[in-house]
Amino acid sequence: MDLGYTTAQLRAAASDAVRAPSLHNTQPWRLRLRDGGIEVLADPARRLPATDPSGWGVRVACGAALFNLRVALAVAGVPARVRLRPDPAEPDLLARLVPDIPRRPTPAEQSLHAAIPRRFSNRLPFWPDPVPSEARWRLGEAARAEECWLEFLIGVSAVTAFGEIARSAHRVLERDPAYRAERERWLRREPAPDGVPVAAGGPQYEPQDVLPTRGFGGRDRAPGRDFEPEPLVGVLGSVGNTAIDQVVAGQALQRVLLTATDSGLSVSMLSQPIEVPTAREQLRVSLGRFGAPQMVLRIGYGQPGRPTPRRAVDEVLDYPIRSR
Ligand SMILES: Cc1cc2nc3c(=O)[nH]c(=O)nc-3n(C[C@H](O)[C@H](O)[C@H](O)COP(=O)(O)O)c2cc1C
Repeated sequence: MDLGYTTAQLRAAASDAVRAPSLHNTQPWRLRLRDGGIEVLADPARRLPATDPSGWGVRVACGAALFNLRVALAVAGVPARVRLRPDPAEPDLLARLVPDIPRRPTPAEQSLHAAIPRRFSNRLPFWPDPVPSEARWRLGEAARAEECWLEFLIGVSAVTAFGEIARSAHRVLERDPAYRAERERWLRREPAPDGVPVAAGGPQYEPQDVLPTRGFGGRDRAPGRDFEPEPLVGVLGSVGNTAIDQVVAGQALQRVLLTATDSGLSVSMLSQPIEVPTAREQLRVSLGRFGAPQMVLRIGYGQPGRPTPRRAVDEVLDYPIRSR
């Protein structure tokens, strides 16, 4: 019996993996085909030194790509057995996936898979419609299924207190010219396979906004289209904050994002309060949670939008696939 995945399965799964979100759309991953399995590696050359000095963002993005791989392989009928950081001698090797026992995909896996090409970060103001509690519950379940937590900020005072933490983190980051230069360097005014297209950048943050959205390109907002005065904010966290915990958080992030897409919800990410250590600690204490906040999500109903570009799969595969 042949225990490896087929070339076609791995290529299809790799093209789903690269749809994952990443800081400034840097796509900081490599995929390596080995012994009929597939490995996810961090690509240190694509880390943002000023925005992501520790590599947290790289590991979260790789975790999200890993989740897409898992879902794609499950839908192909051969779910993966995953080992995180399987080789201490190779710290950039974040996950190795090998075939597990074949089985039919579940309806949930099929829905998550169908959401992969439809998901995108929506940085525009959302409609005022509230997110029903059943949809929130689904998002919380998605985080829990990946051993993480998703805490919603309930009530004006919780959102306002979070806004203060986030805005102070935003100010700290904005004072650093290297951070500003990185954001500018990854903003794309012309079509490109990576970086944030100006059309996806969303309106520039203004002082009256509750949340400091990260402006890419500084578009003016349409008259009367301010951000939600009381946005639904969810904080995603993991039980610890090791490199493995961050990969786990990336998987949970992607499961939550795909679940949101499947529920007709729009999401944008806000990571300034995660990137500034004092803000991250303040956020953790304000939530009264053990573990580590890993991402903040603004969730609601938004205008339809478009997925952003990605590099071709062959650019991230570490060596050409032998045909089988
Ligand atoms: C670790 C991480 C941090 C991110 N932080 C932010 C952020 O602070 N603000 C923002 O607008 N988007 C943020 N994003 C979203 C990325 O900019 C986005 O995923 C990327 O540009 C690709 O676009 P897409 O999500 O539409 O596929 C973050 C994504 C990741 C994975």
